[in-house]
Amino acid sequence: MRLVEHAKKFISDSISKGSICIDLTCGNGLDTLFLCKITGESGKVYSFDLQPEAVAITKALISRTQRIASCEISEACHSQFSSHIPFFCKGNVSAVMMNLGYLPGGDHRTTTTPEITEKALSSVYKWLRPDGVISVIAYRGHPGGKLEDSVVQKLITNNRWNCRVELGNKKETSPILYMIRKM
Ligand SMILES: C[S@@+](CC[C@H](N)C(=O)[O-])C[C@H]1O[C@@H](n2cnc3c(N)ncnc32)[C@H](O)[C@@H]1O
Repeated sequence: MRLVEHAKKFISDSISKGSICIDLTCGNGLDTLFLCKITGESGKVYSFDLQPEAVAITKALISRTQRIASCEISEACHSQFSSHIPFFCKGNVSAVMMNLGYLPGGDHRTTTTPEITEKALSSVYKWLRPDGVISVIAYRGHPGGKLEDSVVQKLITNNRWNCRVELGNKKETSPILYMIRKM
């Protein structure tokens, strides 16, 4: 199974119709669409991306499925996510997806960065409900990817977050999936 499929399986076991979810890097919108399909009209998915192109692609994808009402897509840095989500969601978020790196098929120079990723992740953890989950896929094969991965690892270890890890393959540069559950 590919890591994205592992991540989706992990997330889908923790969400249902009506859940509140966050996609911190909407990119081409595939993870956002996946979340919307499960949470339905009664749920809410908040999605973020820095790039106008990614926001446009995701909006088009979601509106084609007519689920736009239950999805809010913001062109914003994920470190600012809390300014775009109502405060009552704090402590009620069921799942967060964070697929790091650059937009596939887009500008490879715009990529997630270690400091911002750390800031967004440590902050979003506080918005999870008990038993809520976060999936993070880190890509270690591009410049800066290894450093970003080590920052994510350190954050998980230092905070003693409950986490399972899955590797793309055994190579040092292979992608890695972190599956975090708030205890
Ligand atoms: C690997 S892609 C995400 C793939 C996406 N989840 C999907 O299903 O297609 C990573 C995305 O992170 C976005 N990104 C990079 N830095 C960001 C930041 N600080 N805040 C929000 N998005 C960011 C990039 O623009 C890119 O679209």
